[in-house]
Amino acid sequence: MMKKYEELMDLCIKNAAKYRFDVAPNPMVAAIVYDENQDKIISMGVHKKYGENHAERNAILEAQDCDFSDKTLIVNLEPCSHHGNTPPCADLIIEKGFKKVVIGMFDPNPKVSGSGIMKLKNAGIEVVTGVLEDECKELNKVFTKNITKNMPYVLIKIATTFDSKIATAGGESKWITGETSREYVQCLRAQHFAILSGSGTILADNPALTCRLKGERTPDRIIIDRNGKIPFDYQVFKEDGARVFLATNNLNRDFPPNVIPVEFANFRDLFAKLYNKGVYSILVETGQTSLSVLIKQEMADEIYKFVSPKIFGEGMSYLRNLYVFKIDEAYKLKFEHVQKVAEDILITAKFLYD
Ligand SMILES: NC(=O)c1ccc[n+]([C@@H]2O[C@H](COP(=O)([O-])OP(=O)(O)OC[C@H]3O[C@@H](n4cnc5c(N)ncnc54)[C@H](OP(=O)(O)O)[C@@H]3O)[C@@H](O)[C@H]2O)c1
Repeated sequence: MMKKYEELMDLCIKNAAKYRFDVAPNPMVAAIVYDENQDKIISMGVHKKYGENHAERNAILEAQDCDFSDKTLIVNLEPCSHHGNTPPCADLIIEKGFKKVVIGMFDPNPKVSGSGIMKLKNAGIEVVTGVLEDECKELNKVFTKNITKNMPYVLIKIATTFDSKIATAGGESKWITGETSREYVQCLRAQHFAILSGSGTILADNPALTCRLKGERTPDRIIIDRNGKIPFDYQVFKEDGARVFLATNNLNRDFPPNVIPVEFANFRDLFAKLYNKGVYSILVETGQTSLSVLIKQEMADEIYKFVSPKIFGEGMSYLRNLYVFKIDEAYKLKFEHVQKVAEDILITAKFLYD
């Protein structure tokens, strides 16, 4: 039966993920009412919009006048036990008399964290937990950061050579990695609320920082330019429906209508301000200087490092001036995945902070 639960949980994950931007800052959730005796899916419900019905309620509504007493509910996140915009799902599941509930991950929301599961168990419902837990956590990693820290999830993407260079000694950086890796980056852009880059990169490369995948939304842009060095005719300032947050301390000038100036003291301050403006996750695509500051200020959650089978020898490394003199002082990460992306390799890792 565990294999079947995993198959159904995978279906929940795939369907929940379609509504990332519509449900934020809520988690992405889908639920399935399943008949174990007949090996049949009765209904599926998805949380589709912030403030609207949760997945469990939609799955139950979709099943209409079904007898739930011998049915299993599969859901990727622990059912809520508190009153938010909608009444608690745990209460509804109990009221409908489900036999079993299969859950992917605990709700990291401090208002829930285990109390939904406890409520179900106390009502005599069999509860199975931890089904595809890692995949469920990956799906809602942004929500987990948001609800526990009130800060955006920050993912760094870098494209390096085999010897970890991000530009040649002559300043060239296009293109270090192959076409398939660059396509992959477009998918990453499609999954994030905003893309961040520094003035060095913007002035050197004049990138558009948009998502070129058909049908995907264009993420907002965050440009670090404390003194206002970048002219407004650069591509990142183009009006295309995205908000452009200009992290600057030079406010004494006129800004184009799509540019929102944000004064900031450091990255923590900047990200806290952006979080309050609905920037729930940030993809960082920047150069050595800003990347190093970001890591020193311990503001990154994860890194996607694309490594191309090229060696520059000299050139720009992707980090500098971190001043780690003792091994104990190293910034620590946990490797997550390694995969081949055509001719390149993608390594993903999460930062570990004490
Ligand atoms: N291969 C890759 O993945 C990749 C990706 C991106 C860029 N690149 C390459 O990297 C090169 C540019 O790198 P870079 O190091 O010159 O520039 P950069 O990191 O893009 O730009 C420097 C940024 O750091 C900011 N900064 C400096 N000190 C700061 C502090 N204490 N707090 C907050 N922000 C601070 C600067 O702000 P101010 O403007 O206010 O001074 C500026 O925005 C280019 O050649 C580009 O092609 C490669």
